[in-house]
Amino acid sequence: MIDVLLGLQWGDEGKGKIVDYLADNYDIIARFQGGPNAGHTLYVNGNKVVLHTIPSGVFRPHCLNLIGNGVVIDPVTLKGELEKIMPMCPDLLSRLFVAQRAHLILPTHRALDAASEAAKGVDKIGSTLKGIGPAYMDKTGRNGLRVGDILSPDFKAKYDKLAAKHKQMLKQYDNTVEWEQWEAPFFEAIEGLRKLQIVNGEYWLDNHLKNGKKVLAEGAQGSMLDIDFGTYPFVTSSNTIAAGVCSGLGVAPSRVGEVYGITKAYCTRVGSGPFPTELFDATGDELRKAGSEFGATTGRPRRCGWIDLVALRYTVMLSGVTKLIITKADILDEFNPIKAAVAYNVDGVETDELPYGLSDATALVPVYKAFQAWDTPISGVTNFDELPQTFKDYCNFVEEYLGTKIAFISNGTGRDQLIAVS
Ligand code: GDP
Ligand code: IMO
Ligand code: MG
Repeated sequence: MIDVLLGLQWGDEGKGKIVDYLADNYDIIARFQGGPNAGHTLYVNGNKVVLHTIPSGVFRPHCLNLIGNGVVIDPVTLKGELEKIMPMCPDLLSRLFVAQRAHLILPTHRALDAASEAAKGVDKIGSTLKGIGPAYMDKTGRNGLRVGDILSPDFKAKYDKLAAKHKQMLKQYDNTVEWEQWEAPFFEAIEGLRKLQIVNGEYWLDNHLKNGKKVLAEGAQGSMLDIDFGTYPFVTSSNTIAAGVCSGLGVAPSRVGEVYGITKAYCTRVGSGPFPTELFDATGDELRKAGSEFGATTGRPRRCGWIDLVALRYTVMLSGVTKLIITKADILDEFNPIKAAVAYNVDGVETDELPYGLSDATALVPVYKAFQAWDTPISGVTNFDELPQTFKDYCNFVEEYLGTKIAFISNGTGRDQLIAVS
C-alpha cells in the first residue's frame, strides 16, 4: 500500500517535519509533484535542514527516497541540496532515486517565470520564481525535457531547440533577466544528475510494493494551491491533492491507503491571492512572530490568520483525508481567545462551502467561533493525557466539523515533539 501525506492549507504546514517522523515506519518516501518551490524544514540532531527537491525520508538510514515523475527538477538546486546534506548522510546517493519521466527546469524557465511575473504587475501570483509554471507549461504543451533525455547523445541539441523557443518568448517582455550566466552551472549540474540512480519510477515502485514495502508519498505546497481546486489563478502548477499521487508516481488509486492531511492550528499563506481569515492587525503580526512565519524557500514574511475550517473541510473532502495532523499548536499558547472560521458570509448570505469566485467575493466575511485560550501551555507536553482540556475541546470541535479524526498533534520543531492522539 502507498500512504499519502499532504498539506491542507496554502503550504508550509510542517510536512517536512512530519514526514521525517513518520518515515521511521516506511521503507520508501516518494515526492510526487512540485519542485524547488517547496521548502520542507527538518531538524536533524538539532541542525536545521531545508529540503526543496529531495524527499524528507533521507535522514532515516533505512529509507529509500524517490523523486517521482510528477516533480519538476532544477538540477542546480538539486546539486546544491546534495552538497549540503551529503556530509550529514554519507550513504545518501545509494538511497536516492530519480524517475526518468520527471521534467527538467531550464535556466530559461526561470527567466520566463521572472519576466511573466514582472509583466503581471499588481496582479502577480507571488511565485517563488523557481521556473515551476513555465516548466509545467512545457510538460503539458509537450515540449519539455525529461531526466531520461539527459542520457541521450542529442540532449544538447534538444536543449538548444527548447532554449531557442524560450528566447523568442522572452522577447515579448520588457523585463528580462540575464539568464545566460545560469547555463554553465546548469550543464555542470546535469553531469551530476547523470550519475544519480535514474529509474523507471512506476516499475520501480510496483516492484517494491509487490515485495510488501511500505511507501509514503510526500506532498509539496498545499491543497489550496492546487492547480484545479486552489484559489486559481493564485496557485501553483501541479495537482497538490491526493489525486496527484497516481499521476505523479504512476500508482493506481486502488493502492492508496491512508491519507494524512496536515493543518496548522492557525493559517498562513505566502504570495498573493485570497485568504479569507487573514489578520491585518497586531494579532496577525504576533502570529508571524510567535510562529517564525518566514518562507523556508524565499524568506518572505508569511501572511497569517486564524484556521479556516470551511477551506479545510473542502480540502479534506478533495483528498479523502483519513488522518488529520495539527501542527504548531504550541504557537497558540499565548493567544486568547483562539478563533476558527466556521462559515463565510458572502454578500449577506451565510455558507459553509467554498465559493467559486473566492478572489472576487469582496464582500466575504468569515464567521468565527471563539475558543478559550489553553489552560496551560502545550509546548513541553509529551503525551495526550497531559494536554489541557480547553485544547482537547478545540480538537473535538475540529474533528467533528471536518468529520475526520486527529492522529497527531505537533508541538515543536523537533522530530519527536509530536503527540499521538489516543
Ligand atoms: P513544510 O513546507 O510543510 O514542510 O513546512 P515549512 O518547513 O515550510 O514550515 C513549517 C515551519 O514550522 C518550519 O520552520 C518547522 O520547523 C516549523 N514547525 C513544524 N511543526 C511545528 C510545531 O509543531 N511547532 C513549532 N513551533 N514549529 C513547527
Ligand atoms: P511547501 O512545499 C508555500 C506559493 C507561492 C505562490 C504560488 C505559486 O514548502 O509547502 P510557484 O513558485 O509555484 O509558481 O508559486 O504558490 N508556493 C508555496 N507557498 N509553500 C510552498 O511549498 C509553496 N510553493 C509555492 O508563494 O504564491
Ligand atoms: Mg515550506
